[in-house]
Amino acid sequence: MNIVHISAECYPIAKVGGLADVVGSLPKYQNALGVEACVIMPFYDLTFTKKHKFSKLYSNTVKLGSTSFDFRVLKLESSELGFTLFLIDVKELLFKDYVYSFDDTDRFLAFQKAVLDWLLTFKEKPSIIHCHDHHTALIPFMLQECYRYRPLNNIPTVLTIHNAQYQGWFDYDKLSYIPDFNVDNVGLLDWDGVINPLATGIKCAWRVTTVSPTYMEELKQKANGLESLLTAEKKKCLGILNGIDVEVWNPEKDAYLVKKYTVRNNISGKKANKKYLCEKFKLHKNKPLFIFIGRLVGEKGADLLPEVFTKVLADKNCTVLVLGSGNKDIEKELYKLQSGYSGHYNAYTGYNEKLSHIMYAGADFLLMPSRVEPCGLNQMYSLKYGTIPVVRSIGGLKDTVIDITKKNGFGICHKEATVAAIIKAVKKAITLYDDNQQEYRKISKKIMQIDHSWNTSAEAYITLYKSII
Ligand code: ADP
Ligand code: GLC
Repeated sequence: MNIVHISAECYPIAKVGGLADVVGSLPKYQNALGVEACVIMPFYDLTFTKKHKFSKLYSNTVKLGSTSFDFRVLKLESSELGFTLFLIDVKELLFKDYVYSFDDTDRFLAFQKAVLDWLLTFKEKPSIIHCHDHHTALIPFMLQECYRYRPLNNIPTVLTIHNAQYQGWFDYDKLSYIPDFNVDNVGLLDWDGVINPLATGIKCAWRVTTVSPTYMEELKQKANGLESLLTAEKKKCLGILNGIDVEVWNPEKDAYLVKKYTVRNNISGKKANKKYLCEKFKLHKNKPLFIFIGRLVGEKGADLLPEVFTKVLADKNCTVLVLGSGNKDIEKELYKLQSGYSGHYNAYTGYNEKLSHIMYAGADFLLMPSRVEPCGLNQMYSLKYGTIPVVRSIGGLKDTVIDITKKNGFGICHKEATVAAIIKAVKKAITLYDDNQQEYRKISKKIMQIDHSWNTSAEAYITLYKSII
């Protein structure tokens, strides 16, 4: 069985969020299970592409309207990733020092068409085409409907929705960018009067998955306008919980850490990493350290954080460190807090992979007050590093964090994404840390042993593929 994953992001080549982590690890675990999985992604002008060698496999041109763009298909020469990596180089559109931009419709349409043009030349066709998110969600439609891709139209397709908030909408003036098809079927592209790639993918993919069972259920009630579509298509939809790459995210092996640690020396290991963070960010060492890592957007509840921190830090009985970027107003507000709470609060605005690893290791608690969380990887990383998650019970957070008051519980959960609910949860966490250090340590060791590696879920995808081949 050979599986082709097609995605805009893939760690460590290009990462904006969890999509990259998933596409950079699931194929590796699938290969270990005996199938052949590879990844096709755009060739961006980023550090990884600068530092690695690629060989050219194919070249052609791709047209958007009347404009032609040259493209090449490149293959990564080294085998360090655990899967074969192919990159589509459409220099004028994709070779930029960023992943997403205002002209993504053109960029990802060219990408998807170039991928399919190249697949047309394959002697042995893939067993499955696995698309990720709206950037690649027109592929199932093009395979099914476009005359040009007829030779590929019996290849089963899977679309994984990592986040239904983003759907890739564009107007009909770009309809001609899609290769010819029977216009009677134009409705497949439509949702609410515009072309909606995610909706199209849901209609045309052979199977649709999302990244946790609870999010799959939630989508039928709340899917940014696609609720009725997901309800209608529910028979081909399935929630499969993401896993984590325990070769990359593992305190025993993590080269980014100040000190590596196992369950046995978790106390000294976490302490050394916390010391580094507290010195670097001028925070008190002896208070419980809460961290937030992520995109500073409403979905993550980031807009609630400035008020939460202002109220929580008034008591000066904990410290807070934020790593993130996104909405400029939230960035500014979080930055401003630094002056009022020195010694207790700091924020790093931007993206920093290394720092994120040290933070998962050195923190005592991780905050995730998300409004929407299809799966969430941060809480799984924090578990692996022995850091207790304080989360809103929603989506994948509900599937991975059990409240401490419940049987086998280990996390602190709140139901609402409100300032009051988050503060209450933070106070519970501080009480646990201050009044019951022994219990805190017991939980910290216990959660490091929860297995969220890809093993089970990679298998679940393979079972799904087999059911449609
Ligand atoms: P999402 O994909 O919705 O952003 P996830 O929880 O699935 O959320 O994954 C987020 C990933 O991005 C994690 O690997 C997290 O550590 C990483 N991340 C988010 N923001 C930053 C940042 N500012 N610096 C470093 N890593 C970050
Ligand atoms: C999306 C979701 C996040 C999920 C990630 C990987 O970015 O917002 O919850 O973990 O994709 O599937």
